[in-house]
Amino acid sequence: MKRTRIIELLRGELVGQTVLVKGWVRTKRGNKAVSFIALNDGSIIHNLQIVVDLEKFDSELLAKVTTGASLSVTGMLVASQGQGQSVELQAHEIEVLGTADPATYPLQKKGHSLEFLREIAHLRPRTNTFGAIYRMRHHMAMAIHTFFHERGYFYVHTPLITASDAEGAGQMFQVTTLDLDNLPRTEDGAVDYREDFFARHTSLTVSGQLEGEMAALALGGIYTFGPTFRAENSNTPRHLAEFWMIEPEVAFLEIDENMDLAEDFIKYCVQWALDHCMDDLTFLAEHFDSELISRLRFVLEKPFKRMTYTEGIEILEAAIKGGRKFEFPIYWGADLASEHERYLVEEHFQRPVIVTDYPKEIKSFYMKLNDDGKTVRGMDVLFPKIGEIIGGSEREADLEKLMKRASEMGVPEKDIWWYLDSRRYGTAPHSGFGLGFERLLLFVTGMTNIRDVIPFPRTPRNAEF
Ligand code: 4AD
Ligand code: MG
Repeated sequence: MKRTRIIELLRGELVGQTVLVKGWVRTKRGNKAVSFIALNDGSIIHNLQIVVDLEKFDSELLAKVTTGASLSVTGMLVASQGQGQSVELQAHEIEVLGTADPATYPLQKKGHSLEFLREIAHLRPRTNTFGAIYRMRHHMAMAIHTFFHERGYFYVHTPLITASDAEGAGQMFQVTTLDLDNLPRTEDGAVDYREDFFARHTSLTVSGQLEGEMAALALGGIYTFGPTFRAENSNTPRHLAEFWMIEPEVAFLEIDENMDLAEDFIKYCVQWALDHCMDDLTFLAEHFDSELISRLRFVLEKPFKRMTYTEGIEILEAAIKGGRKFEFPIYWGADLASEHERYLVEEHFQRPVIVTDYPKEIKSFYMKLNDDGKTVRGMDVLFPKIGEIIGGSEREADLEKLMKRASEMGVPEKDIWWYLDSRRYGTAPHSGFGLGFERLLLFVTGMTNIRDVIPFPRTPRNAEF
């Protein structure tokens, strides 16, 4: 007999039929006559109740049915008499596929803290919380692909190993086959990368944008969706060393349309979560964040507030005059810290905010310079509870201006000669942005630590699993 998934059984259409189900035991309870096993197979957050008539089963077999054990059960699906479920399975045959010794299995019936579960990241997908989060990660990925596919944008794969630092922030993980204890040296004492695999210095990518631009300037609209790596030593609830980024890049698109695209995109993803993940959202709202679902709906209602960096600084300075305290100093020219971003979003405007036209010194070399010569056409989308969720810009399309900015920002021309070719031949206005996938997941799941929305988080001193 073919196995039926619990999500299908719970729909109730198979009542009266004999079915085969396989899954893992969440709990077992009962009395002298019957046992009730809550079985979960990951297809949905809800368990299937298995009713076991103790007279018909060997007690040795049932002793092996403990939390975490895997079972194969054949039985009759019936309408449930008990509360809390609409159907249940009356077991005819039970096979224990794998036991889980209660003396050592770490996930027992009681609830576990998120901190504890982080230490057993290899087992935490078996909990309700992480089952919900894993499923929502999948649904958000589907939302992203569908959004861009429907608009005719092509999914492009950009390399993970690269020789250029796209963001120019010097946060690259080095890739090397050289023996670190015995590095080859040139005559002047520098590391001799000619003996390395690629015969040059390479790193893991911090962004697929530069390569994405090459594709956009040929295919029109593209997006990337892949892992990116940053060796920023910031141990915060919002930073990972390995995170997934979605980077659309679109030819003939200017900054205002880029903002429209970003806003439509996030709203589409949030709507998708409400449409496809209600069971998991309800669970997460009940257990972690009672305002989760209303916050998701709220974001869909109003247009995002759009304003310049300069206006943002004025608002923050006025707040400080009015007595609001911040940990970090803020003045024209300084980067907004997370506390400033959250003030603008959560206290001042009380809705998502898009900040544009940042001072050129605090943004990357590729952003289009404004006529004032001081600011660039960058845009950050700021979200409640998260701060920056998207960073993007209109790109500098003019070769001379781009080369000047690169040299001012210390980006060597020899590293980006290929990138400059796109401005040499058939250059065109174009724009794009990057959405941090895990930051989106923080928002839609209501989790507060980014380590809890990626299966195996990579953070400073943490790469065990
Ligand atoms: O603002 P960032 O650095 O922009 C870029 O990388 C551009 N190349 C994007 C583009 O224009 N194509 O990063 C984009 C987003 C941030 O807004 C944030 O959501 C996320 O990536 N992000 C991180 N997420 C988790 N951990 C980190 N260490 C992150 N750094 C950035
Ligand atoms: Mg940024």
